[in-house]
Amino acid sequence: MSGLFISLEGPDGSGKTTQIQLLQEFLIERGYEVVLTREPGGTDISEQVRKIILDVNNEKMSNMTELLLYTAARAQLVDEIIRPALEAGKVVICDRFYDSSAVYQGIARGMGVDMVYQLNEEALQGILPDITFLMDMDAEEGIQRKKKQATLDRLEKENLEFHQKVVEGYRSLAKRNSQRIKVLNATDSIDQIQKQMRQYLLRQIEK
Ligand code: TMP
Repeated sequence: MSGLFISLEGPDGSGKTTQIQLLQEFLIERGYEVVLTREPGGTDISEQVRKIILDVNNEKMSNMTELLLYTAARAQLVDEIIRPALEAGKVVICDRFYDSSAVYQGIARGMGVDMVYQLNEEALQGILPDITFLMDMDAEEGIQRKKKQATLDRLEKENLEFHQKVVEGYRSLAKRNSQRIKVLNATDSIDQIQKQMRQYLLRQIEK
């Protein structure tokens, strides 16, 4: 597999989408073929699953169902989009990937990080990110930003304690995987964050 797989992670409202678009422009300018995608979603089937997961009316959804639906959407995205793109030597940038399940379902829902990773490793058959950028910021600020932008989905509507667990979960995951996960301060300016991402990426590509 000769492509490069980059994922962006962070609590809700941490500004991942803006940074992904800027990173895509940078890589295209440098001559890379870039595939941009998001999770949950990115294929017709996965987008249908996304609707079910995030629907505020699905308040009865059990934690296991939620975990399996996220994993199913991801398996489809990998088979249909990510694996073929990497095999063709492209750069894939994914807005969230399996670390989101490790943190939201494994830690915040209390299902266990190891179990979530094990399940995902089965479902993803070796397709894992080479580089992950974590947009780190406190939960309160992220939720405030989200409330200003749009109506909240089922996960965003969770209480502050849930979102604090997400933030802490990401921080501990980043410590355990420091060779893969690069932590950025999401309260820095858009330009500052982008500059750090580009510098880090170039260093990794040149290695
Ligand atoms: P988004 O708002 O970044 O598109 O993501 C949708 C929500 O789904 C967000 O609150 C994070 C959550 N999520 C999980 O709980 N587990 C996962 O595996 C993924 C990919 C997202």
